[in-house]
Amino acid sequence: MKEPDTDQLLEVAVSSAHAAGDHAMRNRMRRRETEEVFAHDIKLKLDIESQEKAFKVINDAFPGHAVLGEEGDMRRDTSRPCWIVDPIDGTVNFSHGMPIWCSSVAVEINGEVRAGCVYLPEMDECYTASLDQPSECNGHRIQPSGAASLDEALILTGLTKNVKANSPAFNVFESMSLHARKVRIMGAAAVDICHVASGRADAYVETGIYLWDVAAAGFIARQAGARTEVLKELGEFKMQYLCTNGPLHNDIRKLFIESA
Ligand code: IPD
Ligand code: CA
Repeated sequence: MKEPDTDQLLEVAVSSAHAAGDHAMRNRMRRRETEEVFAHDIKLKLDIESQEKAFKVINDAFPGHAVLGEEGDMRRDTSRPCWIVDPIDGTVNFSHGMPIWCSSVAVEINGEVRAGCVYLPEMDECYTASLDQPSECNGHRIQPSGAASLDEALILTGLTKNVKANSPAFNVFESMSLHARKVRIMGAAAVDICHVASGRADAYVETGIYLWDVAAAGFIARQAGARTEVLKELGEFKMQYLCTNGPLHNDIRKLFIESA
């Protein structure tokens, strides 16, 4: 199969993320319509519908490509270009009317991301990058912070859906809170990573995050000059993940590993 043009991949990633995000946004009065409710998570009807919107854009543009999304269709086919979609990242935020959520679309070829888009409809922000184009937010170049010491760092994190009493995540939170300027839980991993890419935050770390949460945002962060690392694989798609501005990487990695 002839490799598609990178500009076209980025264009489709942007259209697909907009199709998902705009559908959720237009229907936000239906944000409490649940498909399933768990102890620390929910699945909405709009998660599923928005993924269908994203997939349609991809299938129309590239009928021969594979698609993998959080809402089913979870096969990572590396024999052809594979699109990785999270139609709503930050579903709990979205459902409660909090504006921090996004739609995330990445495309990989031979297991490497070539283009990605993270779109925040309520914040009117669209983060993009491709192999040929730098990381941008709404068309403006972004870059990570230059913070080099933990005491000036704003670190973003999250608590996995399966959090339990005495979970190591609480030790990590405590240890990072004692060393960093602030630790925040904003509720949407892809948004957190884009904040590191654009210098608003200095690092993001989380245990129990999934490929679709990090595929587009991690690529955007790397293309912006940030550093990403899968600290541990926790299953086919699940992992412990770190993204930093670069100068803080080793210090945060050490702190995380020692306290987890
Ligand atoms: C979740 C969000 C949250 C993170 C969870 C993710 P979802 O994704 O990114 O910030 O803490 O680990 O699973 O379920 O809203 O797509
Ligand atoms: Ca999701």
